[in-house]
Amino acid sequence: MKKTVVITGANRGLGKAFVDVLIKDQDCFIVSLSRSLSEEQKSYSSKQFYFLELDLSKNNVESRITVLKDLIGDEPVYFINNANIIEPVVTIEHLDTEAIDKAISVNIKSTMVITNYFLRNFKTNLLTFVNISSGAANRAICNWSLYCSSKAFIEMFFKVAQCEYPPHSFFNINPGVMDTGMQKSLRDSHFPDVENFKDLHKEGQLKAPIDVAAEILKTVQLGT
Ligand SMILES: NC(=O)c1ccc[n+]([C@@H]2O[C@H](COP(=O)([O-])OP(=O)(O)OC[C@H]3O[C@@H](n4cnc5c(N)ncnc54)[C@H](OP(=O)(O)O)[C@@H]3O)[C@@H](O)[C@H]2O)c1
Repeated sequence: MKKTVVITGANRGLGKAFVDVLIKDQDCFIVSLSRSLSEEQKSYSSKQFYFLELDLSKNNVESRITVLKDLIGDEPVYFINNANIIEPVVTIEHLDTEAIDKAISVNIKSTMVITNYFLRNFKTNLLTFVNISSGAANRAICNWSLYCSSKAFIEMFFKVAQCEYPPHSFFNINPGVMDTGMQKSLRDSHFPDVENFKDLHKEGQLKAPIDVAAEILKTVQLGT
């Protein structure tokens, strides 16, 4: 059955892995809401893949995504809320207003705006919202205040959304630790627990994003 899957941050890391899996399904139309394309994505057919260049830290998310109305019909729609930033990894007194604004825009505000847009404009579609969360939503980690609190925020936002919109499905999924750019930037950061993250990498305990993507897609009944 035809379906459309809209993914934020689909150019690298877990977001790209979702595309790598879904592109094999001819019935799946993928919309990437990202700042750039991966090399492979540049050659994907427009029948299966649409790139909407979008910087989630900016104030124009709502007006930029109106093109989705022209791309989506009456098929089931999945929104994978994947893009997030973890920086800055610093104690609270070292957060500046610009960094606070940016993290809130990328991790919280853009998710709320996109979710609101789908609920307003695709009332009769079967909608599935998938929030890529983290253990950090429920665990306080020193120097991660913006990241931990934004993960907790969106988990609760999705729980409220599920109460308000029972016909649709809202998932909060913790992907576990994966070998992506985010982990690399954490290993290069300063925080009390950093050695544990370096050890996970050294001991080969980081999961491959492609395996995680396949598992998550199966959980939300999108697996091939
Ligand atoms: N890696 C882990 O161990 C881990 C563990 C738990 C949860 N997670 C969660 O898993 C999800 C994917 O993480 P990842 O590890 O794949 O992270 P990643 O490698 O850092 O990739 C992050 C993605 O977000 C995009 N992004 C960042 N800022 C953006 C902006 N302003 N506008 C548009 N896109 C933006 C990036 O695009 P650009 O290339 O344009 O920056 C990239 O595609 C995140 O929600 C993360 O919190 C990851």
